[in-house]
Amino acid sequence: MHEIFKKRRSIREYSDKEVTEEQIHNILCSAMVAPSGNHANPWEFVVVREKEKLSKLSRCGKWQSFVKDSSVAIVIIAKESDTDMWLQDCSIAAAHIYLEVANQGLGCCWANVKDSKTEEGEDREEYVIKVLNIPKEYRVVCIMSIGYPLKEVQEHSEEEYDETKVHREVF
Ligand SMILES: Cc1cc2nc3c(=O)[nH]c(=O)nc-3n(C[C@H](O)[C@H](O)[C@H](O)COP(=O)(O)O)c2cc1C
Repeated sequence: MHEIFKKRRSIREYSDKEVTEEQIHNILCSAMVAPSGNHANPWEFVVVREKEKLSKLSRCGKWQSFVKDSSVAIVIIAKESDTDMWLQDCSIAAAHIYLEVANQGLGCCWANVKDSKTEEGEDREEYVIKVLNIPKEYRVVCIMSIGYPLKEVQEHSEEEYDETKVHREVF
């Protein structure tokens, strides 16, 4: 297994060090070369750096509060009408972001938006759409919260391989 898969962890605590525009560009490049059904590339990305907006996004749910501490958040959205596979495409773009972030020595975490509610019971997608002024025809999959890790987190290891998850030839 390549080292980058071991390094990739969900990081929710960040230092104050800023992520640069060049780093963000490279992260977005990695997302835009993700595989996509019918090569539809339906994803679009809202890059958020303003503290007030990060803070509002962090209030989209109970387990998303770490977004306020990030240097930058990349919100992954897609127009549902573009392809039936928008969710798969956005998810794999998110996986690319996770890996490029790890490659750059940064940390990130998926903050879930789709199919969830705010603590006040509002649809989380509608909340994020309002905060970021996203047109209504878009779906919001997640917020990728990015920054320099505050502390070291244990890497994944090959020990996590689980043979009971593997079925050969038939179940
Ligand atoms: C679909 C999906 C939704 C997730 N949503 C959240 C979330 O809303 N908040 C959060 O703290 N972590 C979230 N995570 C991160 C997972 O908790 C994390 O990937 C898992 O605990 C494994 O840890 P690792 O990423 O460090 O390997 C999400 C991950 C995925 C793939």
